[in-house]
Amino acid sequence: MNLTTDEIQERLHKKGYLDLSVSKDIDLVAEINRLKKEKNAVILAHYYQEPEIQELADYLGDSLFLAQAAEKVAADIIVFAGVHFMAETAKIINPNKKVLLPDLKAGCSLADSCPPDEFEKFISKHPDAHVVTYINCSAEIKALSTIVCTSSNAVRIIESIPKSETIIFAPDKNLGRYLIKETGRDMILWDGSCIVHEAFSFDRIVALAKEHPKAKFIAHPESESQVLDIAHYVGSTSGLLKYIQEDKATSFIVATEAGILHEMQKRCPEKTFIPAPVEDETCACSECAFMKLNTLEKLYSCLEHEQPEVILSQELIDKAKLPITRMLTLG
Ligand code: 13P
Ligand code: SF4
Repeated sequence: MNLTTDEIQERLHKKGYLDLSVSKDIDLVAEINRLKKEKNAVILAHYYQEPEIQELADYLGDSLFLAQAAEKVAADIIVFAGVHFMAETAKIINPNKKVLLPDLKAGCSLADSCPPDEFEKFISKHPDAHVVTYINCSAEIKALSTIVCTSSNAVRIIESIPKSETIIFAPDKNLGRYLIKETGRDMILWDGSCIVHEAFSFDRIVALAKEHPKAKFIAHPESESQVLDIAHYVGSTSGLLKYIQEDKATSFIVATEAGILHEMQKRCPEKTFIPAPVEDETCACSECAFMKLNTLEKLYSCLEHEQPEVILSQELIDKAKLPITRMLTLG
């Protein structure tokens, strides 16, 4: 069978392989904006994306804001500039939309640390427990949950469950330990973590703080507890952004994915933001390699070909939707 180049391209896109052969002469920003209008598409982007992608977004925010935006989107196509679990969440709560992810390989170490079959066995040992899952997990894990949460609303979600009830929290043990301290609730934790937030070096952060005695140290709750214990403020990406705007300090050491520094600098151009150091001095470990798989070229390509698309079975959508809707109702 002889296939034309277009047919081969089409098949590659259907299988989720991306066409990176975007002509260098193309004005990617102009073309993306043209395609967005032409196809009635919107771009949802997380703060960990490359700055040029953040600048193109119709909705830019943390995981909660993006889930809320995805629920309300009226456009025909959602292009999710984030990672797989975020695009999957958008598909679950707004299943009639075509949801595209510029690179299907944009996964998440935290989501991967919780395989559904093992998690099912784990929760079956505590049949009466409420299963609270951090949104950074697969649709299959969400389908096994009572309620989903993000780092922005986790305290509120946990406090909505009566004190007498048992809670399983998954998949992030670091966020789980932080929430145990914050809420005083004794939860059963799944042993998962994020490689990006676990890479921060306690000793190097302490040394850096000595070099910048006036700087405030702020951290995302996916970081390890010894790092969180020395933070002036702990919060979600939107919480960190609010803090740097409202706090009087003029410099901050920031322990979360480095992509957020773009929005911090934009909101407070007169302030200084220093990425927290990681253990391995030779590595850009505070960058999430999964988030950074998305590029302008892939964004253009995925809008042009409407591939790769996030496809989920109706059965999975039905099961995973309720725990997300419960979260969105609580806000
Ligand atoms: P938030 O933006 O909700 O704080 O989440 C951070 C994160 O790890 C996304 O992968
Ligand atoms: Fe997952 Fe961590 Fe990357 Fe967020 S930063 S997407 S939790 S690996």
